[in-house]
Amino acid sequence: MARLIVVGGSKGIGNAIVTSLLSSYDEIVNISRTAPEQSHHNLKHYECDITNDELPNIDAADGLVYCPGSINLKPINRLSIDDFKNDFEINVLGAVKAVQKYLPALKNGKNPSVILFSTVATKLGMPFHASVAASKSAVEGLTKSLGAELAPTIRVNAIAPTVTDTELASKLLRNERMVDNMNERHPLKKYLQPQEVADMAGFLLSNKAASLSGKIFEMDCGIISFKM
Ligand SMILES: NC(=O)c1ccc[n+]([C@@H]2O[C@H](COP(=O)([O-])OP(=O)(O)OC[C@H]3O[C@@H](n4cnc5c(N)ncnc54)[C@H](OP(=O)(O)O)[C@@H]3O)[C@@H](O)[C@H]2O)c1
Repeated sequence: MARLIVVGGSKGIGNAIVTSLLSSYDEIVNISRTAPEQSHHNLKHYECDITNDELPNIDAADGLVYCPGSINLKPINRLSIDDFKNDFEINVLGAVKAVQKYLPALKNGKNPSVILFSTVATKLGMPFHASVAASKSAVEGLTKSLGAELAPTIRVNAIAPTVTDTELASKLLRNERMVDNMNERHPLKKYLQPQEVADMAGFLLSNKAASLSGKIFEMDCGIISFKM
């Protein structure tokens, strides 16, 4: 039985991943604080706050995607130590907890693969991103280290998106002017839709990506790659 575990599949990018892969797996297990809006015979939901609760036991899985994250943008003098700790907890320690918990299940899976989430802000210095950039840089280090440690059995990759149209980024896309500015800032004159990121995740989980591990895949709409 092909099974995918998605932590944070109720909303945003995780939800797009769940929706687009429902027919590719016999079971997708979603773990989040709230249930996904959709229901499907292949979709199972566990209510769980990754920072506080025990994760459910699962005996075998072919993939693990860890989606929870933060966009906590403030000038450095307004970022508290607790802000840094909270960002580290949800972005890094939550991912560590999920990987540690489901390592035995992944070892029982077929061509298993893990996907974590970074951001373009690790490569592109941007004001007010100190806390999230620090945490996501740790996610990238984790990706590379685990990729090496778990080779050749389990592949581990990260996707580093630019702004993606989800609830998490809603403050950055509040009105038409902000949407126009966001499109304009990117050399490809667009930002991301969750489905585009889900397509990348689907590829990385599949056997088509059998040679890829320890990689950070920037989906940057040109913002890191090009100076126009
Ligand atoms: N959106 C962007 O512009 C953007 C840009 C760069 C990087 N990223 C990264 O991409 C990833 C996905 O982002 P997104 O925009 O899809 O985020 P999102 O819309 O906030 O969705 C996050 C998902 O994680 C779940 N979640 C959050 N906290 C949780 C917790 N404590 N315990 C269990 N589940 C939790 C949420 O479900 P519940 O609320 O139901 O728990 C939701 O399903 C994140 O790591 C983010 O940092 C996003």
